Amino acid sequence: MYNAIISGTGRYSPERVLTNADFERMVDTSDEWIVSRTGIRERHVLNGSGGFGNSDMATSAARIALDDAKLAPTDLEAIIIATVTPDYRVPSTATIVQTKLGAGRSAVMDLVAACAGFIYGLSVARAFIVSGMYRNVLVVGVEHLTSITNYEDRNTCVLFGDGAGAVVVSRGADGDNGRGILSTFLSGDGQYKDLLHIPLGGSRDPLTAETVNSPGRFLYMDGREIFKLAVREMADAAERVLADAGMTSDQVDMVIPHQANLRIIDALTKRLQIDPNHVYVNIERYGNTSSASVPIALDEARRTGVVRDGSTILSVAFGGGLTWGAALYRL
Ligand code: UT7
Repeated sequence: MYNAIISGTGRYSPERVLTNADFERMVDTSDEWIVSRTGIRERHVLNGSGGFGNSDMATSAARIALDDAKLAPTDLEAIIIATVTPDYRVPSTATIVQTKLGAGRSAVMDLVAACAGFIYGLSVARAFIVSGMYRNVLVVGVEHLTSITNYEDRNTCVLFGDGAGAVVVSRGADGDNGRGILSTFLSGDGQYKDLLHIPLGGSRDPLTAETVNSPGRFLYMDGREIFKLAVREMADAAERVLADAGMTSDQVDMVIPHQANLRIIDALTKRLQIDPNHVYVNIERYGNTSSASVPIALDEARRTGVVRDGSTILSVAFGGGLTWGAALYRL
């Protein structure tokens, strides 16, 4: 068994920003409603279709993470891209990122676990490292959510942003001083699949000439139901990884949760009895970027000195599927 450490992090956010004032001009909403119900003030978004896309955001974040880890792209033996908005249905975004990075002939795969995608990817990378199969694995959470957002639906359009966050997971060396991914927990429940889904455009119900402009091609979400389940299951997942590592929540330096809703984060913080000063929140500037939210927040927290080498971090996420999970790690 080998130790899996996070050896580098990086992030990318598009320059263009949509503010709550922009949404007041687009749908029947208000800055007051968005801030009080979600905590979001602005989100970074890509400019329309074509041009710079999902794989480009992932590649930008990955280059920074590789530099941080002092590794070359050819050192990567596997690339895992967690996304629900791949460039194409075939081939995987991972294959495109591999070529853009110049990462040789690494294993390449996309992983679909919605907002929990990064935690799933981190867990899979850890298993590759711990088993001795690989020494360096790239995990990117990347989403072009605005490409599947209905800008006529006020229930969802104000929530989502685009971006990418990347980590390199590497085999640790002797003398890592307790660094590493200490525990992960993954779960899901498909009976709730309709709470967050895109009804049309898959192989079961392909788009037709009649449906090509229908709202069914965009993301639908029953936010109220998800809210209740999210708090309960994220708290449970967090408690499981803490128990697995033989630790308690007061030993966590920083919780870096999925950024879907400030009220969900606050409820989770209360339930875990964690000091709010030990919870990293950046939702006001990014909105919900699904699988990208945790690695974007992790990279931002590292580069602003909020967490540093030796910090113990708990990340939890919850999303469509439903899927959820937690990871406990020391930088
Ligand atoms: O990231 C992956 C998983 N997703 C989540 O974790 C999201 C979880 N859910 C949430 O974050 C929240 O449920 C939302 C932010 C999506 C919605 O907040 P809510 O407090 O649950 O609102 P609601 O859906 O219960 O709607 C309350 C009211 C409704 O009006 P009526 O029916 O009471 O008259 C909505 O139509 O708020 C209305 N509403 C809005 N009003 C102004 C919904 N969206 C808006 C809006 N502006 N943008």
